[in-house]
Amino acid sequence: MKRLISVCMTLVVLILWLITVPAVKAADRDKLLSEPGVYGTFASYSLDEAWGKQDQAVRIAQLTILKGVVEQHREKLAIDVYLLRGLSDHADLLFRVHASELRETQQFLLDLQGSLFGKHLTGSTIFSGLTKKANYVAGMSDNIKAELKVLSEPGPKPYVIVIPIRKDADWWSLSQEQRGAMMQEHTEAALPYSKTVKRKLYHATGLDDLDFITYFETSRLEDFQSLILALEKVKEFRHNRRFGHPTLLGTVRSLDEIIEVLAQ
Ligand code: HEM
Repeated sequence: MKRLISVCMTLVVLILWLITVPAVKAADRDKLLSEPGVYGTFASYSLDEAWGKQDQAVRIAQLTILKGVVEQHREKLAIDVYLLRGLSDHADLLFRVHASELRETQQFLLDLQGSLFGKHLTGSTIFSGLTKKANYVAGMSDNIKAELKVLSEPGPKPYVIVIPIRKDADWWSLSQEQRGAMMQEHTEAALPYSKTVKRKLYHATGLDDLDFITYFETSRLEDFQSLILALEKVKEFRHNRRFGHPTLLGTVRSLDEIIEVLAQ
């Protein structure tokens, strides 16, 4: 009886949600994902034990609410979801949110956490950073510049890796030229992997206890591993005071796929 009441209440809330969620126009996703001056937030969560103990109908209703919250914020934000469960012991789900105003991201995360689905989210890790124009590429050789313009191979890249990085004080006390020379070495070591590893960089200094959030997609995790091993050999790497902690590994999924997995 108690369970039936809970299912009915969830369905009522769900219907109310669907009625009140306005038909929203999606944000200009391509611009948010490509332009400088955009805030990128990475929010990872685990699901509590109570989640899996609920009836499937209740879980489906709560997942529909999750979909409603995401849809409601798509007008201003570009929201991507990833499944970490099974590949990462840090969290089950990862949201990557791009916004021109960080407070819009905050509102989304507040709505998410305050929803019936969000009540089951625990142990969040949140990093925020900002996309910027390249700082060192202009000083690199024409060859490197040309190679950097070559896009990664088309086709699905199902794996995602997110690595937060903090540099040491020595790094920041070097001149622009000295850092530029080391970044050239970094780029030369990394370029052979740029065909199979897609990357995106976020600057986090001052917004978090980090300096950078590095984001990668690939279908070839073995290439990604060789890339990291190649970068570990260059001088710039020695200035990493924090690398990972945590490193997040998961799969790129649509929201509907995530809902399907979590409904089972
Ligand atoms: C796919 C291969 C990669 C290529 C082609 C590449 C290339 C570059 C380039 C050209 C820059 C300079 C950007 C600028 O001018 O501001 C850069 C910056 C950076 N890269 Fe990579 N990278 C790759 C992979 C990685 C990996 C695997 C990591 C670490 C996990 C990493 C960490 C960084 C960091 C932290 C910066 C910013 C450094 C700073 O501004 O002080 N990169 N990368």
